[in-house]
Amino acid sequence: MDFLHKPVMLNECIDMLNIVPSGIYVDGTLGGAGHSLEIVKRLDSGKLIAFDQDIEAIKNAKIKLKSYEDKVILIHDNFRNIKKSLEDIDIFRINGLLLDLGVSSYQLDSPERGFSYRYDAPLDMRMNQSSQISAKYIVNTYSEEDLKRIIRDYGEEKWASRIAQFIVEERMKKPIDTTGELVQIIKAAIPKKAREEEQHPAKRTFQAIRIETNHELDVIHDVLESAVELLLPGGVISVITFHSLEDRIVKNFFRDESTGCICSPEIPVCVCNHQARLRLAHRKPLVPSEEELRENPRSRSAKVRGAIKL
Ligand SMILES: C[S@@+](CC[C@H](N)C(=O)[O-])C[C@H]1O[C@@H](n2cnc3c(N)ncnc32)[C@H](O)[C@@H]1O
Repeated sequence: MDFLHKPVMLNECIDMLNIVPSGIYVDGTLGGAGHSLEIVKRLDSGKLIAFDQDIEAIKNAKIKLKSYEDKVILIHDNFRNIKKSLEDIDIFRINGLLLDLGVSSYQLDSPERGFSYRYDAPLDMRMNQSSQISAKYIVNTYSEEDLKRIIRDYGEEKWASRIAQFIVEERMKKPIDTTGELVQIIKAAIPKKAREEEQHPAKRTFQAIRIETNHELDVIHDVLESAVELLLPGGVISVITFHSLEDRIVKNFFRDESTGCICSPEIPVCVCNHQARLRLAHRKPLVPSEEELRENPRSRSAKVRGAIKL
């Protein structure tokens, strides 16, 4: 399967990074290396360090970025470990960080990775193939209460309770091994007339289980916190999110870090001593242009937020 991933909001992200040719940039989510390629093209003495927890992305980028290999360092790790991984290669300051969160088209479109409700495949959903916890493990071992919480909180699915109950009933008969089996259970749990026409009934539950499998939300705050410490003054963090849960974490982090005093308004004199470390690049998030939406429907829910280190 070819590693195709149309980079989302490419120009907006590259402009926001305001690339200095001698700078050090980190792409936390290499994927198909579309954003990475545009960053590295703009460097002369600078370096790009690109992370992906999926070994397939690293292998593909070795080929795609071959002509820039003296400027690129590829790291097969979770971006959550950015600080330690950079320290290991003697990098202590960076000029910019890009995060394009979520799954790549390659991952979604590779049936054997088990991310998609469109193919019948083993229930997997691990971005990092050596991780111990797969979607199959979660679906077959988590308590009904935990499944309900995950599907409700990470999928924003109003039928979470029934879906969790149906999963637990079915797995008592036999383990749930495939995406196809899970889709059938979800379809049975959501009454036909309650289904949204434009959305596959399994979309929300699959999103939820994928987020839990990869701890996708826990790592966002950690990497942003590390990035603020690593960025040089004037350096930029640019983040593309694809659903409201991710976006809320980024929005709140940028809001808090771009605010000085955070004392409650009833307190007459500041006691928190909180100091802003960032300035927002834009007041509102950027969204895809009409043209991009036509050319790449997967950009539909994308939002880009950026912030600049003070
Ligand atoms: C949306 S794709 C990035 C696409 C990329 N910008 C491009 O132009 O092709 C997200 C990629 O980030 C990786 N990823 C997601 N979360 C990660 C994390 N916490 N640490 C490392 N890689 C992660 C995924 O494996 C996937 O390959």
